[in-house]
Amino acid sequence: MRSLIDILDFSTEELDQLIEVAKDIIADPDKYAEKCKRKKLATLFFEPSTRTRLSFEAAMLELGGSVIGFSDANSSSSSKGESVADTAKVVSCYADIIAMRHPKEGAPLVAAMNASIPVINAGDGGHNHPTQTLADLLTISRRLGRLDNFTIGFCGDLKFGRTVHSLINALSRYEGIHVVLISPDELKLPSYVKKDVLEKNHMSYEQTESLEEAMPKLDILYMTRVQKERFFNEEDYLRLKDSYILTPDKMELGKSDMAVLHPLPRVNEISVAIDADPRAAYFEQVANGKFMRMALILKLLSEAGKI
Ligand code: CP
Repeated sequence: MRSLIDILDFSTEELDQLIEVAKDIIADPDKYAEKCKRKKLATLFFEPSTRTRLSFEAAMLELGGSVIGFSDANSSSSSKGESVADTAKVVSCYADIIAMRHPKEGAPLVAAMNASIPVINAGDGGHNHPTQTLADLLTISRRLGRLDNFTIGFCGDLKFGRTVHSLINALSRYEGIHVVLISPDELKLPSYVKKDVLEKNHMSYEQTESLEEAMPKLDILYMTRVQKERFFNEEDYLRLKDSYILTPDKMELGKSDMAVLHPLPRVNEISVAIDADPRAAYFEQVANGKFMRMALILKLLSEAGKI
């Protein structure tokens, strides 16, 4: 049974196909309006979410299917001690496909190993967030017209930012990507991502603490929130949370056709004054997330022989 746990579960050709299907959905949504009629998506969210859960739900509804699930672990039997494995077996009796977010790294993988229906990782701890990466890839493709030969700066919490880890993994599949890692020392990209992804794939990268220095060379600036929920003590979070704030002054240092991405939610790291700048692409990213999740649901249900 095919699931999506890590973005590298899909080949480059499959990623490109998903992007093409998403673009076709955007061009002709009516064509897809009944593709998932009588099919059910279960959204099992053990951690808070606005975009991911609601875009999965909107995606299934726009495909003509329906949605069951929970948005709070306390309202599920996990609060009574039920395991992820048992939850996956139970939900397989009610639904055709699962989207799961969980604070523990690897929980969606455990679900996939026990479910009899496809499981989609909707974010597991500080590890991976492959469907955010799908949204990011479509946004880059639509903005730049390509997925190769560009410079991308990742700024902020590169240690705990699972969207950063997933996107770097995906970009390792494409040629000519230069990565600029912009973070305070304490929030640097984990060495396992540097070694196993950047270095193993001979990707060119540099590290800096200065957003101002990096700005002029970037085609894409990927801002991130400092992940309060992953810190062990409040004092460290408070010291680091405002390390980078993107303001109109800093935007003046960037290229005129640069695109600013952010997986959202934002706290303080992008001034709201940037929202009116045509380079701000983060609300487009939100919309693109729904289209890519539609394409993903279609792919996995089709491969499972359910549509
Ligand atoms: N980008 C993202 O995962 O947002 P949510 O936490 O609101 O789902």
